[in-house]
Amino acid sequence: LQLLEFNAKLKSWYLENHRPLLWRQTTDPYKIWLSEIILQQTRVAQGTPYYEKFLINYPTVFDLAAADERDVLRLWQGLGYYSRARNMHHTARHIVEEWEGKFPESALKLAKLKGLGAYTAAAIASFAFNEAVPAIDGNVYRVMSRLFGIFTDILSSGAKNEFTNLAKEIIPQDDPATYNQAMIEFGALQCVPVSPNCSVCPFTYMCYAYEFGMQNKLPVKMKK
Ligand code: ADE
Repeated sequence: LQLLEFNAKLKSWYLENHRPLLWRQTTDPYKIWLSEIILQQTRVAQGTPYYEKFLINYPTVFDLAAADERDVLRLWQGLGYYSRARNMHHTARHIVEEWEGKFPESALKLAKLKGLGAYTAAAIASFAFNEAVPAIDGNVYRVMSRLFGIFTDILSSGAKNEFTNLAKEIIPQDDPATYNQAMIEFGALQCVPVSPNCSVCPFTYMCYAYEFGMQNKLPVKMKK
């Protein structure tokens, strides 16, 4: 019952507060893939023009696969971390050659592609194919650790499993895509890293960090 209430509140928070980002208006796995790769190391404001420019030049996975790698890297100029662009080009070719341009539809299969980690695979599987797999990025680690009082170091080897197992119990079978977008957006806009404005948060009544004033202590992130 509490879980249903959490999911309902999260969804209505999302519907009222989310940014109408371009990659949220599509279920095309190619476009979602591109957006998630760009956003791995780049902020939304900086990444959006690259997303648009990239899709004008390469509207489909076939166009990217057919491209010259030098042209792909030139389009990526300014974003940095060029292995992202090289891996995308490589994987586009793989998808065209092995799968006739069709993306695998499960997170498990997607995660086997070069350049895709568990997070990106889950994001594509849920946003494009509605698979109920949690997509856990830094935003989601922060939200979950604060809400549930999880003190596991998020950079430790066991953290991914612990957070994923818990998130699997929370994610609804009905509309998992919106759940994942909402958790990411909630972390990006409301449950922000420094001094979140908890006076407008719908979850203070059930939040561990709020109850004990530990918003700035969670998540635990060991200095490397
Ligand atoms: N950062 C990573 N993925 C994102 C998404 N889908 N929406 C907003 N920010 C993101």
